[in-house]
Amino acid sequence: MRSSRFSNVAEAREMARRRLPRVVFDYIDGAADDEHTMHANLAAFDDVVFRPSMGMGNGRPDLRTSVLGISLDLPVICAPCGFVSIMHPDGAMAVARAAAAAGTVSVLSTVAGTPPEDVAHVAPGRMWFQLYAPPPIRENAEKLVTRVEGLGIGVLVVTVDTAELGNRERDRRNGVTLPLALRGASSLSLAAQILARPGWTARAISHMLATGKGGPAIPKMVASPFTWEDIGWLRGLWSGKLLVKGILTREDAIRAIGNGADGVVVSNHAGRQLEGAPASLHALVEVVDRVGRETEVLMDGGVCRGTHVLKALAVGAKAVMIGRPYLWGLAASGEPGVARILEVLGSEMLRDLILLGCPGVSLLDRSYIARREMPGL
Ligand SMILES: Cc1cc2nc3c(=O)[nH]c(=O)nc-3n(C[C@H](O)[C@H](O)[C@H](O)COP(=O)(O)O)c2cc1C
Repeated sequence: MRSSRFSNVAEAREMARRRLPRVVFDYIDGAADDEHTMHANLAAFDDVVFRPSMGMGNGRPDLRTSVLGISLDLPVICAPCGFVSIMHPDGAMAVARAAAAAGTVSVLSTVAGTPPEDVAHVAPGRMWFQLYAPPPIRENAEKLVTRVEGLGIGVLVVTVDTAELGNRERDRRNGVTLPLALRGASSLSLAAQILARPGWTARAISHMLATGKGGPAIPKMVASPFTWEDIGWLRGLWSGKLLVKGILTREDAIRAIGNGADGVVVSNHAGRQLEGAPASLHALVEVVDRVGRETEVLMDGGVCRGTHVLKALAVGAKAVMIGRPYLWGLAASGEPGVARILEVLGSEMLRDLILLGCPGVSLLDRSYIARREMPGL
């Protein structure tokens, strides 16, 4: 099997597991505390069942949608993720190119490992920027926003769920501390893990030789304690669209909009921050019910099948973001791997829409879903 020919997200994850040093795999795969919120994200999709309409034919359904006035060929966006260059040396470049080629967008994290100046030109109009700013927040945020503004990036995504870093115990066990570094005896175990993954190591070394760069750029990841006043201040500074990411309640959705956000991303950061936070799909219901008529609501967390995308859209999300799924694709085979993940989700959605009897994603609504229960019992 060619490395990018995995046929679903689970296979891509397995391929990534075999290719990455354990410390890198665990950094992607892990979450906070006992990882219950992470698992709840996925399990929540089983709380919803479809109500299909038969007799609708099998014409090719329409996957197109628009988010904040930007047309997307499929309602799946690559979420901002840190340190992508340790997963594959092409890192953020590969993600930006693959997302743009699929007719969607990717969001470059402040801590992706590649500066926005280097990436923006490979995906004109199809890359957004996600902002973290450690204290002094406004000083750091202003520097970044000014840099990004001249690059043709139309959407700023401000992540508000990282006032403190989550308790990622797998990382701690592996000796990873944030700001990203490896400590003490773990460097021996790291050496063993790297030797066990010669493909990953060879790619990293050949990239270093080709670019003259000394290994992946590891940015500093520190807490980013934005207040609502900071969001309002950013609104005044940023002339493009503003999305607030990390919303889990109707109250915070209202605060985000009140401070000038053009939309919100319902997200619990893949369960990597507050353990015990609700599954994203559950939180989506209350946020859409409260602000869905006045603003655009996106969601992420646990999406790894076409049916998951359809369920989130039927609840009321305009589009979803994926994190780990495209990171698995990236780790498995770079840009073709990210492209393959988007292709797999797209083709699953096409089949699922036909089976659901719905001609296009923009027509999905709650009439196509129900809470799982046993009717009549
Ligand atoms: C390895 C990794 C790194 C992440 N880094 C960031 C980041 O830098 N900024 C951010 O806003 N969210 C970050 N996230 C969260 C994602 O943007 C997204 O909310 C989440 O991955 C979606 O859940 P999923 O992985 O189940 O698809 C990260 C997630 C992962 C798995």
